[in-house]
Amino acid sequence: MDIPILGQLFPPFVVTECCAIDAAAPELPREEEVFVARAIDKRKREFATGRHCARKSLEQLGVMPAALGMNAEGDPVWPENIVGSISHCKHICGSAIASRDFAEGIGLDIEHTTRMTPQIARRILTDEEVEWIDARSAESREDWMTLAFSAKESVYKCLYPIIRQFFGFDAATLNIDPEAESFTVRLREDIAKRIPNANRLKGRYLFSGDIVATGVVLPTASAEPTT
Ligand SMILES: CC(C)(COP(=O)(O)OP(=O)(O)OC[C@H]1O[C@@H](n2cnc3c(N)ncnc32)[C@H](O)[C@@H]1OP(=O)(O)O)[C@@H](O)C(=O)NCCC(=O)NCCS
Repeated sequence: MDIPILGQLFPPFVVTECCAIDAAAPELPREEEVFVARAIDKRKREFATGRHCARKSLEQLGVMPAALGMNAEGDPVWPENIVGSISHCKHICGSAIASRDFAEGIGLDIEHTTRMTPQIARRILTDEEVEWIDARSAESREDWMTLAFSAKESVYKCLYPIIRQFFGFDAATLNIDPEAESFTVRLREDIAKRIPNANRLKGRYLFSGDIVATGVVLPTASAEPTT
């Protein structure tokens, strides 16, 4: 199994980590065990591996938290002055973390391209996105659909901690640039007006084997221009 290089999804101020979800998952601090105490083994392992990745990234930023909390809506409670995101798919887990000096939000998502169905695609794509995907070769459409799904999950993970309000897949329209392996995001007006610097939101993607990973970042106004 290939472990994707998640760093290529983000500007250099974002620290990433990615590892396999093994049978022997890392141990959790007691304060974090409570979040998965009643969960099945698979969930315990993905949760522990995600937190392990996040802790490794935090260490690189010189932050050593004893435990990472979890908000009622499921997003991690990051240390002060940190933003970040965690994702897991069947076999791997990843995290992306940055200082609030550089980013107001970060979203990371990892998906298997083999799990997309036309039913899911209909639910998540805007008409504009359907038109764009229909113009791709038939054999690549499943990949593009999964990419759009993953990108929108990354957008959600990046913005939810800022606005703390649920928004569905119709709230973002993607403009994908296959040459640059990147995408821009046009937010629905009611969401956009709640995000300072919403026009700075940008994303990148990568395909690795049967995995697609996406990263979205909302840089602070003072952050260096990104690619
Ligand atoms: C929350 C959600 C984005 C998680 O994505 P997923 O593909 O199911 O699962 P992933 O493994 O990639 O990510 C799970 C991690 O996301 C994080 N997460 C959970 N809820 C979150 C939220 N509201 N905001 C930010 N991050 C969240 C957690 O770290 C979680 O892992 P953990 O519980 O082990 O710490 C997804 O379940 C969801 O609710 N989507 C609907 C909303 C949406 O995507 N709208 C589209 C807007 S354009």
